[in-house]
Amino acid sequence: MNLILLGPPGAGKGTQAINLAKKLGAAHIATGDMFRQAIANGTPIGKKAKEYMDKGVLVPDEVTIQMLLERLGQPDSKNGFILDGFPRNISQAEALDKALSDRNSTIDAALLIDVKDSELIGRLTGRWVCRTCQTPYNVKSPQPKVQGKCDRCGGELYQREDDKEAVIENRLKVYREQSLPLIEYYSKRGRLKRVSGEQAIGNVEKDLLEASKATAGRVK
Ligand code: AP5
Ligand code: MG
Ligand code: ZN
Repeated sequence: MNLILLGPPGAGKGTQAINLAKKLGAAHIATGDMFRQAIANGTPIGKKAKEYMDKGVLVPDEVTIQMLLERLGQPDSKNGFILDGFPRNISQAEALDKALSDRNSTIDAALLIDVKDSELIGRLTGRWVCRTCQTPYNVKSPQPKVQGKCDRCGGELYQREDDKEAVIENRLKVYREQSLPLIEYYSKRGRLKRVSGEQAIGNVEKDLLEASKATAGRVK
């Protein structure tokens, strides 16, 4: 199944994508995670992306789309993929549709995780992320079993540069201006499903799985 997770910063896209990918045997493809990895590796893409990410604005499409399409060309995407953080504007959605249709493939569902702004800010300022595998944790919940260490890989937990309140405000603004039109884009194509992200993580996952089956018209 090919899924897109839509939703504002802090909605729980990364949290859900990790679990869904495991359950569905799909590749988890997160452009934000790819950029952070590129920054850590000091690559030219990383250097370019950092300028934009630190301000909470979108990395230019020519960089992002090419990186994403190359990633989609890797063999693990053939068994299905979950996109987390892409597309983020209409031109990215159009580029994705074109690339998939060239490969006789399509998006089965675009799942929107709904969370109100006041909740998002609390989640992001309290977030800790694994430096190695990028699994998110929180000072409230979900907490890691051992403080400062990732449950999945033992990696060190850190706070993202863009999780400062001033940058969060900007990311939310960019989401409203550039990413909200995607709701209509996928709705018109009969692919959009909304799920409340303001529930326990396991219940959000249950709703996402139900919604993806309904939209894709498949039972798994
Ligand atoms: P990106 O890394 O994609 O960040 P984002 O979209 O701002 O989303 P987040 O990762 O902040 O939130 P999330 O929805 O994954 O929530 P999470 O699961 O961590 O992008 C970063 C930057 O990269 C962008 O600003 C841009 O510059 C660039 N970029 C990336 N993609 C791009 C693109 N396509 N085009 C251009 N530029 C791009 O959860 C958040 C917190 O809440 C965690 O602490 C978690 O533990 C907790 N939590 C999760 N679920 C729940 C729950 N149900 N209840 C309570 N707490 C919960
Ligand atoms: Mg994320
Ligand atoms: Zn980890």
